[in-house]
Amino acid sequence: MKILITGGAGFIGSAVVRHILQNTDDLVLNVDKLTYAGNLESLASVADNQRYQFSKTDICDREALDQLFSQFQPDAVMHLAAESHVDRSISGPADFIETNIIGTYQLLEAARKYWNELDDQAQQAFRFHHISTDEVYGDLEGTDDLFTETTSYAPSSPYSASKASSDHLVRAWHRTYGLPVVLTNCSNNYGPYHFPEKLIPLIILNALQGKSLPVYGNGQQIRDWLYVEDHARALYKVVTEATVGETYNIGGHNEQKNIDVVKSICSLLEELAPNKPQGLAHYEDLINYVVDRPGHDLRYAIDANKIKQDLGWVPEESFETGLRKTVQWYLNNQQWVSHIQSGEYQNWLNQQYRLNPTD
Ligand code: NAD
Ligand code: TYD
Repeated sequence: MKILITGGAGFIGSAVVRHILQNTDDLVLNVDKLTYAGNLESLASVADNQRYQFSKTDICDREALDQLFSQFQPDAVMHLAAESHVDRSISGPADFIETNIIGTYQLLEAARKYWNELDDQAQQAFRFHHISTDEVYGDLEGTDDLFTETTSYAPSSPYSASKASSDHLVRAWHRTYGLPVVLTNCSNNYGPYHFPEKLIPLIILNALQGKSLPVYGNGQQIRDWLYVEDHARALYKVVTEATVGETYNIGGHNEQKNIDVVKSICSLLEELAPNKPQGLAHYEDLINYVVDRPGHDLRYAIDANKIKQDLGWVPEESFETGLRKTVQWYLNNQQWVSHIQSGEYQNWLNQQYRLNPTD
C-alpha cells in the first residue's frame, strides 16, 4: 500500500510511520508542516528507508495537497496532523480552528478530488482514516460509564471542540459524497518521543531537573492511558481492515488519577535515577498543586470492546510496563530531549506556568 500520513513528525504520527516502515512493505509519504510539535529527529531510525518520503507541507495549503495526491497516488490517507495541546487551545484557539477544522476540510477536498478520478476498483479500496480523540465525548464526571462509539459529542475545550468539528466533517464527506472514511477516537497516549508540554514527559523531565511538578487543581482527574505503540498497531489494523464508515474507540483499560500518575513516575525515578538533583530527598517532594485548568474535564474512559471484537486488537502494555519503558526512554535519550527544549518551548513554559513557576 501507499499511505499518505499527515502529522507524521508528531508524537503519535512518528510512531505510526515507524510502525509501518518497520513491520510492513508499505510506502509512506509523511506530510507535516513541522510546527513546534513536529520533529524529524523522531524519525531518524527510518529516514533513510527507500519506502519513506517527507514533504514539509501545511494541510491548509490546498494546491500543495492536490500536487502531493497526484504525485504519490495514495491507497490510503491517515490524518493525524493537528494542534493537540488543550492548554495551548485555551490560551490561543486560532491555530486549532485553522489546522483542525480548516485543514481537515482542505484535506478532505483534496482527497475527494483525487478519489473521484480513480477507477472503480481503486475507489472501493481507498480509505481516508481520520484519527481523533476521546475528548470529543466530553466529561464522565459523576458516573461509572465508559465512552462508546455512540456516546453523544459534548466537547469542553477549544481543542476538543475543533476535533469534534473535524469528525463531523469527515462523516459528512462520507454520507454526502461517498468518500470511504474510517474514524478512530483514542484515549490519552504516552511513550517515547512525547513532547514535554504534556503531563507524563513534563513530570519526568521536571523531576530530573529538580523543578516543581505542577498538578492542576486537586489532581483527582482521571485519564485512560494507552502506550503509543499499542495505538499505532490499532491504527494500522483499522486502516487496513475496518469496514468503510465505521468508528472505533481505542483505549488502554488504564484509568489513572493524575496524582497517582505523578507519584508512579516519582517512584520509578527513585529506582531508575537515584542520583537526584542536589538537596532533594525524594522526587515526590517536588509535587506542587497549582491553579486548575479552566473547564477541566474530570474523567475520560474508553470502552474498547468493539475494536477487540471486530478486529482482534487489544493493548499489549499495561500502565506499569509502559510507564517503566517511557521513563527509561527519557533517561536514555537526553539528546532528543535537549534538542526539543528549544527557545519556543521555554517561552511556553514561562507563559503557562508563570503564576506557579516550576523552577
Ligand atoms: P502532536 O502535537 O505531537 O503532533 C502533531 C503533528 O502535526 C506535528 O508533527 C505538527 O508539526 C503537525 N501539524 C500541525 N499542524 C499542521 C498543519 N497545519 N499541517 C501539517 N502538519 C501539521 O500530536 P499527537 O499527540 O501526535 O496527536 C496526533 C493526532 O492524534 C491528533 O490528531 C490528535 O488530536 C490525536 N490524538 C492524540 C492523543 C494524545 O494523547 N496525544 C490522543 C488521541 C488522539
Ligand atoms: P495532558 O497531558 O495535557 O492531556 P489532556 O489534557 O489531553 O488529557 O494532561 C493530562 C492531565 O494532566 C489533564 O487532566 C491535565 C493534567 N495536567 C496537570 O495536572 N499538570 C500539567 O502540567 C499538565 C500539562 C497536565
